[in-house]
Amino acid sequence: MEPSRSAPLEAWLRYADDLGLGPFRLDRAPQHPSLLSPRAGRPAEAPSSSSSASAEAARSAPPPSGVRAAASALLPSVQSPSLFEERVDNDSLERIRSDIGPNCTRCKLHRARKNIVFGVGDPKAELVFVGEGPGHEEDIQAEPFVGRAGKLLTQMIEAMGLRRPDVYICNVVKCRPPENRLPEKDEIATCSPYLVRQLDAIKPKVICCLGACSAQTLLNTTQGISRYRGEWFDYRGARLLATYHPAYLLRNPAAKSEVWKDLQKIMAVLGLPGKRR
Ligand code: URA
Repeated sequence: MEPSRSAPLEAWLRYADDLGLGPFRLDRAPQHPSLLSPRAGRPAEAPSSSSSASAEAARSAPPPSGVRAAASALLPSVQSPSLFEERVDNDSLERIRSDIGPNCTRCKLHRARKNIVFGVGDPKAELVFVGEGPGHEEDIQAEPFVGRAGKLLTQMIEAMGLRRPDVYICNVVKCRPPENRLPEKDEIATCSPYLVRQLDAIKPKVICCLGACSAQTLLNTTQGISRYRGEWFDYRGARLLATYHPAYLLRNPAAKSEVWKDLQKIMAVLGLPGKRR
């Protein structure tokens, strides 16, 4: 389309997006059906991991105390972006890593990153944790969740009776957002197809989204995590549950009990007895 004709359309789309009416670019990829009609009485807060001032303000509301839907109520499948309705034949983590390449410049996050943080753990894991994006320590060590929040995640995994190498850990974006800000829409749109491929290649039984960014990305919703935290979704054949991000727990330790309940739901599905005391 000629720029003179596309400019008003783009402006209108941006305006609609600001009003929360979009995103229209995903019109063939509707958000999870169960999230289409917001349930009344739920605060729309979205606790996540990043600690920049504006991101912090967006997430500072307390966790909700409302009763959650029964975990046994598995909901209909997520319809994924059309590009990924079909899986890549014979895909593997090695192939995805090599497709990303050692020097990816597909989005602006490449400018400040030191390392691409692809993911770590068992390529056949039954349980995958998905975070937001690497922080400072992760960027240096090229491994997800190795900083303070990562240490808490490791404790959570061990409380479930597992070790880090038993699970797979990755992020929505593979490069560190500067100042630990939230990943931006274009960065998520560029990088999340690799996350979808990672999940397809691993074929876990359970995906645990840590925080709003990964939950919103995989469930294709803009709704705050409080609306569906602790509930089960069917994601491309896996069970998906979103819980609060460990970085949020570092700032709000009172929410740990909610997260422990979520982890216990996952343990029940995976038949894990928990940590031996
Ligand atoms: N927070 C994340 O979301 N991911 C990491 O890898 C580290 C911190």
